[in-house]
Amino acid sequence: SSNLSVGKNGHLVFAGVDTVSLAEEYGTPLYVMDEAMIRTNMGQFRDSVEQYYHGGGLVCYASKAFSCKEIYRIAKSEQIGIDVVSIGELYTAMSVEFPAEKICYHGNNKTEEELNLAIEYGVGWIVADSFSELELLNRIAGEQRKNVKVLLRLTPGIEAHTHSFIQTGQIDSKFGFTIQFGTAMEAVKQALALPNLLLDGVHCHIGSQIFEIDPFVHAAEVILSFIAQVKDELGYELHTMNLGGGFGIRYVPADQPAAYRSYMEQVSKKVKEIVAEKGLTLPFIILEPGRSIVGAAGITLYRVGGIKEIPGVRKYVSVDGGMTDNPRYALYGSEYDFILANKAGEEKVDTVTVAGRCCESGDLLGKDVALQNAQIGDILASCATGAYNYSMASHYNRVRKPAVVMLRDEKARLIVRRETLNDLISCDL
Ligand code: LLP
Repeated sequence: SSNLSVGKNGHLVFAGVDTVSLAEEYGTPLYVMDEAMIRTNMGQFRDSVEQYYHGGGLVCYASKAFSCKEIYRIAKSEQIGIDVVSIGELYTAMSVEFPAEKICYHGNNKTEEELNLAIEYGVGWIVADSFSELELLNRIAGEQRKNVKVLLRLTPGIEAHTHSFIQTGQIDSKFGFTIQFGTAMEAVKQALALPNLLLDGVHCHIGSQIFEIDPFVHAAEVILSFIAQVKDELGYELHTMNLGGGFGIRYVPADQPAAYRSYMEQVSKKVKEIVAEKGLTLPFIILEPGRSIVGAAGITLYRVGGIKEIPGVRKYVSVDGGMTDNPRYALYGSEYDFILANKAGEEKVDTVTVAGRCCESGDLLGKDVALQNAQIGDILASCATGAYNYSMASHYNRVRKPAVVMLRDEKARLIVRRETLNDLISCDL
């Protein structure tokens, strides 16, 4: 991507910084993030809503993609909102005084403790996922003598895959209220009847790592038709439409995601058409991009510790991280681009399987990937690891989580320190 280049010494340069020096200074494995790219992405989403959509809106960065104090500070300074899905994400955001009114709180099974805290902080929206949650929310809001702004999570019956989408009659999902069977309409009626809830609108999220624009446009259509139906039947016009996230990014050259500018342009056009046709007011729009904000803004640096060649079968290159810092290959078979950071100027003449350090055969980072000729001690960079890597890291095998370094103006600063052995036993009694 545009923030990667090769320096005069043949080293991989990321956001203007020599990655081999970073590995030496901070150790490996190491997550490295490019602040300029994160800010550019946040700004482009924010501005494209202004530019193409004229009903008002808010971009809420889906912080499950990458969550720590610093990312919330950056989102705050870019004046966008955030999407949180747990008390942990909420607490982290509030610890850096994130404006509560710009927080959208999600989850299909929020606990009473979580809802209590969310309402106490005064988050902007709570996205209700079930009938029982509406009841619970109403009770807690009553106890706190507050009114709570609510969105209803809807299942629009659209399944988006990376390269296509299908409209399924009934979607099998643990999330939200199905539009079919009158379920979503029942939820609207219930929310309107509960005295401590302010029903502000509806939400949907059709999937992740989606390259095409059509499924998003179609989802907007389904959601707006529902808003029109509610107005017809109940005389109540929902004010807010949250269309979720899911914009794809390029992990490997074959990935061809659409530009989100054209997404905004096409969705806005469609929404305006329907609004005019059905006599609605242009709803306030919320978008929740996660991966597309941080994904390409991160790389991971590892050190090669072992090489094993099984003649005629496979060559394993083992690194000092693996599924504990990036479980995505093990979970989804996700592909990544790899580069030897200290040999970035050399050609990729080899095909190898990158293995992690965990005691299980499935701990791989990539199978049959192109790489420069590897030797023990080389620094291996895995690209586009900014989303769903650090946030999905685990302590399996009691491996310590790596540090995270943020780059800005060609300088590095630690934003999450490396875990110590004492961190690992700090909860043990
Ligand atoms: N909003 C809602 C309600 C979501 O459920 C999600 C992601 C997002 C927004 C952000 O989606 P994004 O723009 O990042 O695609 N662990 C998986 C991804 C799971 C996404 C879950 N929901 C992965 O590593 O690919």
